[in-house]
Amino acid sequence: MSRRQVALADSGGGRDSLRMSLPPGFLDELRTRIALSDVVGRKVMWDKRKSNAAKGDFWAPCPFHQEKTPSFHVDDRKGFYYCFGCQAKGDAITFVKESDNVSFIEAVEILAREAGIPMPERVHDPKAAERKDRLTRLAEVMEQAVQLYGLGFRSGAGRGARDYTRSRGLSDETLKRFEIGYAPDARHHQTQHFNEKGVLDEAIAAGLIIKPDDGGAPYDRFRGRLMFPIRDPRGRCIAFGGRALSADAQAKYLNSPETELFHKGRTLYNHGPAREAAGKSGTLIVSEGYMDVIALAAAGFGHAVAPLGTAVTEEQLGLMWRIADEPVIALDGDEAGLRAANRLVDLALPMLAPGKSLRFCLMPEGRDPDDLIRDEGPGAMQAAIDAARPLIDMLWQREAEATPLDTPERRAALDQRLRAALGRIADQSVRNHYAAEIKHRRADLFRPAQAEARPAWRPPERRGPGQASSRAPARPRAETRKSELARSGATGQQAEARIREAGILLIACHNPAALGPLEHQLEEMTLRSPDLAAIRDGLLSAIAEGSDVAETVRARTGSDPFEVLGRIPQARALPMARPDRPPERVAEVLDEAIARHQAALAFEAELSEAARDLPEAEGEDWTWRIRQAGHQLYEAERSALKDTQAETGETVSEIQRLLDNQVYRAKKT
Ligand code: UTP
Ligand code: MN
Repeated sequence: MSRRQVALADSGGGRDSLRMSLPPGFLDELRTRIALSDVVGRKVMWDKRKSNAAKGDFWAPCPFHQEKTPSFHVDDRKGFYYCFGCQAKGDAITFVKESDNVSFIEAVEILAREAGIPMPERVHDPKAAERKDRLTRLAEVMEQAVQLYGLGFRSGAGRGARDYTRSRGLSDETLKRFEIGYAPDARHHQTQHFNEKGVLDEAIAAGLIIKPDDGGAPYDRFRGRLMFPIRDPRGRCIAFGGRALSADAQAKYLNSPETELFHKGRTLYNHGPAREAAGKSGTLIVSEGYMDVIALAAAGFGHAVAPLGTAVTEEQLGLMWRIADEPVIALDGDEAGLRAANRLVDLALPMLAPGKSLRFCLMPEGRDPDDLIRDEGPGAMQAAIDAARPLIDMLWQREAEATPLDTPERRAALDQRLRAALGRIADQSVRNHYAAEIKHRRADLFRPAQAEARPAWRPPERRGPGQASSRAPARPRAETRKSELARSGATGQQAEARIREAGILLIACHNPAALGPLEHQLEEMTLRSPDLAAIRDGLLSAIAEGSDVAETVRARTGSDPFEVLGRIPQARALPMARPDRPPERVAEVLDEAIARHQAALAFEAELSEAARDLPEAEGEDWTWRIRQAGHQLYEAERSALKDTQAETGETVSEIQRLLDNQVYRAKKT
């Protein structure tokens, strides 16, 4: 079968007459000008391993049936696709026709527009004109419904709806832009209208009218609701969302059912306009609800979409990525919003590709974008968007905070969770970079925790520079550890203390409200770094005055506390060092961290006292005290260095060597 014949066989009824209405050769020209893989590539995620772009050979999970494995094949050279799972097959025109639910001639128009070929004047074909595509007719009925609800909104019966929209601050312009309507609270208002127009069957098929299975009289689906038309990217109305006006309605929102026109999981509210606006802003905002999209648009964020009341699907995520590389997910700032964000993390992991990711912006205090804009204005929304965090942050925070990490077993469980998450990333390059980043964060997380868990001990004197460099380089990781050990003495202790101090302050500055009973401890805490002590004082007076922490500290010290503290990566990496963490957890963590900090300082003080006493002390006693300290350090190092026995052994003998060296040198002086 030639390509032409395939298209002919598959494009279905009514095609021949349409075909005849196009000039000869037009379709062939169209097919040669477009790559099928481009057309299909907008709807699927290619399987990179199985595909071979150089040979024009592409594989993906089939867009026409549910599957996880790629059995959908595109032969770009032949311009033909075939699914080994569901046997869907055809060419570019068939593909657009099936996947976009459009007629043959509409598919041709879409492709011609893409290929930049002007559509030829069609020879008048009365037969083709007569035979209107069923979907087109359904879409026409939907368009009539938009008009009908618009009238309803402006009519006497729509008064309550108008009051309601005004109470929510929607301007006339916004109402018009989103074509907001009203379905009167009557059972047969629309049924009668469509019946009179002779399109009742279509209105039923389009989901506007419900026809009971028991043969009862058809009735209006949407009653007494504010109506939001849902349009596909090309502007056809395919569904409605209806919001109840009374608070005690059964469902706050009622949406159109799945119909031939409407597939909820493949639709985004405001898709077309958002795609256009995103072209200018370079980004896309994804919110939870209709009202959020509308409020965002009214505030100047035209590039916003929403799924339709269900969790985001793979297909919707694919649609978003076709609009922007890193859509910003702006979910409600409540438990449900966080759950949705985490579901989205899991959905996205296997689909991540170079450059394609998500950013997450959780709204504060149980609010949604609509609330935030109303309460604090577009600037606050922009600030929230600017502060959106990358997907890796969400993943990291979720896993690192799932349980306390105070035992080796719990830390091992974290490693296991992180490995599982990495395993779900399909793209190899993205996976490698995630692995590297996670390794980094893991080291940052465990290192200060170790320092706090057991007082960090460092030999009290610096090693000579010659000694440090004469050692043969070991494997990189062991090398870092060793050089840390080598960077011993007062400077090392100072740095450790500074990390602890910054960590505590960063957590406190982000969560001043959670400090309560800890204020006293914070006030009493020893801070070795004078700049950090100044931040602490600023923070405490901000709490006392009830003023903004950053502002107060800046007024007192001349610099931004978040910037100063944020320069220390170990502090930045602490899971609690973020705004709006659970207050009880914050208090718990701070309480412990301050206690550990003080204990570490006391321990260091004891060590230097011992060193001072040395000339008078028994040699044996000194060695014993040092070995005790070394043992503690070994314990700390051991849980940080779980990689291999060998590496641990190496570290231990390195410690011993340092200790012996230290004792030797101390005795000599
Ligand atoms: P929300 O309850 O967050 O609604 O649901 P909202 O958009 O903030 O609405 P307002 O501000 O109270 O008017 C988010 C989305 O979930 C779907 C709708 O798509 C809604 O926009 N939803 C919600 C339903 O489908 N049914 C419901 O009963 C509730
Ligand atoms: Mn809302």
